[in-house]
Amino acid sequence: MKVERFAREYPDNPCGLLRMGPPGIGKTHLAVALIHRLVLNKGVPCLFYDFQDLLKEIQNSYNADSGTSELGVLQPIFAANVLVLDDLGARKPTVWVEETLAHIISTRYNDMKTTIFTTNYLDSPSGRNEVTLTERIGDRVRSRLYEMCQVVEMSGADYRRDIRKMDHRT
Ligand SMILES: Nc1ncnc2c1ncn2[C@@H]1O[C@H](COP(=O)(O)OP(=O)(O)OP(=O)(O)O)[C@@H](O)[C@H]1O
Ligand SMILES: [Mg+2]
Repeated sequence: MKVERFAREYPDNPCGLLRMGPPGIGKTHLAVALIHRLVLNKGVPCLFYDFQDLLKEIQNSYNADSGTSELGVLQPIFAANVLVLDDLGARKPTVWVEETLAHIISTRYNDMKTTIFTTNYLDSPSGRNEVTLTERIGDRVRSRLYEMCQVVEMSGADYRRDIRKMDHRT
C-alpha cells in the first residue's frame, strides 16, 4: 500500500502494515515517511521504536536503579495511535522475547491501534535453510499479525550499495 494512500485513509482504515523484505530496500524509510505524514498532516500521535531497542529498554526497566518501571516503558507503546516497530524478529527468540512481544501486540490488537512492522524475515523464504518469520516471533504473534496488518512484501535493489558508490566518488 502506498504511503500517501495509507496516510490519507487513516484513521478510517486502521489496518496496520507488515513490510517484509531484504536489507536496504527502504522498509524503514517508508515507515518513517508514513508517520512523518501522519504527525504533520493529521496530528496523529505516533511512535517509532526499533524492536531490539525496545526490548533492551524493557529489560533495563527491571533494574530498580534505572528509575523506570516496566509499565513506564510500555505505557507509551500501548498508547500511541500508530506505532512503528522496526526490524521485527531481529532479536533471537527466547521465551521472554516471545512473551513480551505477544503482550505488546495483544494489547494493541485489543485496543484496535494501528501498528506498522518491518522485518527481514519472510513467511515462505526461497532458501531451504532460511528461518521464517514465525520461527522468529512465534505462532501466536504471527497469527495476530494476519488480522492486524496488510502484508507488503518488498523486493528490489539495496539502496545502501548506491550510497557506497557515491561515497567513492567524493
Ligand atoms: N526511496 C528511497 N530513495 C533514496 N534513498 C532511500 C530510499 N529508500 C531508502 N533509502 C535509503 O537507503 C538506505 C536503506 O534504507 P532503509 O534503512 O529504509 O532499508 P531497510 O529495508 O529498512 O533495511 P534493513 O532491512 O537493513 O533495516 C537508507 O540510507 C535510506 O535512507
Ligand atoms: Mg530497516
